[in-house]
Amino acid sequence: MKIIKELTQEIFKQLDSINDLSELESFRIKYLGKKGVITSYLKELKNLSLEERKLLGSQLNELKERLEVILKQKEREILFKEEDKDLGIDITLPGKKREVGNLHPLTQVIEELCEIFFRLGFEIVTGPEIESDYYNFTALNIPEWHPARDMQATFYLKNGALLRTHTSPIQIRAMLERTPPLRIIAPGKVYRCDADIRHSPMFHQLEGLMVDEDVSFSDLKGILIYFAQEIFGEKVKVRFRPSYFPFTEPSLEMDIGCVICDTKGCRVCGESGWLEILGAGMVHPEVFKAVNYDTSRWQGFAFGLGIERIAMIKYEIEDIRLFFENHFLFLTSFK
Ligand code: DAH
Repeated sequence: MKIIKELTQEIFKQLDSINDLSELESFRIKYLGKKGVITSYLKELKNLSLEERKLLGSQLNELKERLEVILKQKEREILFKEEDKDLGIDITLPGKKREVGNLHPLTQVIEELCEIFFRLGFEIVTGPEIESDYYNFTALNIPEWHPARDMQATFYLKNGALLRTHTSPIQIRAMLERTPPLRIIAPGKVYRCDADIRHSPMFHQLEGLMVDEDVSFSDLKGILIYFAQEIFGEKVKVRFRPSYFPFTEPSLEMDIGCVICDTKGCRVCGESGWLEILGAGMVHPEVFKAVNYDTSRWQGFAFGLGIERIAMIKYEIEDIRLFFENHFLFLTSFK
């Protein structure tokens, strides 16, 4: 028994230092070959008493079987290693980590906005970026002579169509496609002939529209305050200012307290303490007329916000062009 124990230890010690197939074969012959150590011991069993033979025999056979299995395994290991060596691979080196990408910061903001309004029961819709003059202006109560047309320097196509200057034409399309009551938001690209540190010829807006029998100005304010708190945090300060848009009456603009100076006044907010983030108002009766909605029954509110503007405030980015230059470091800092 002592011999078997020592033999087992010896075998395992030697096994560790075997590195190639020829060494492995010599090892096999040494222990399991016709004149091998284990084989000889097995042969000697016949000289022992029946009891000793039974006991030692089963132990020796067990060791032999174990060793056979281990040798097979070892052989496979060696073959694998040699294959890796041929390929120039060192399997002991740590693996390469795969870089996980992230969504563009604007996509992240769009998704966040959609999620907020989705929770409020708004359906997400889209519209075409190439629009007709009618949907982009006329149906929104901006007739040809209207000065508001000049405020949105428009890219016209040769065929008389244009690149939409805002997402508001989606309001018209959505109202024509459905019957009220309705609640929609529409994110998308818009185009204006304008370029500097705060303006890009292509940027993104999110339009919102709710039409129902009993929608009031206070519903609009409530929803806008909720949205501002969700996106900028509960402590955000908001204020509403009267404003003018041809497609809403009354109209308002919403500001939030400057996130840098907390309304004290700084360079970012132009010393005013406030940052304008959206325009909104009650849908103008002329707009309802354009889509054949009965103004004695339906009321609605609409709002439109600039997505880059929200992202710039949220992430304290001063130059809008960074969103579109695609510097790797900029993009990957929004994980
Ligand atoms: N379309 C406007 C713009 O691009 C933003 C806007 C203002 C949209 C008021 C609205 C609204 O729906 O009610 O400047």
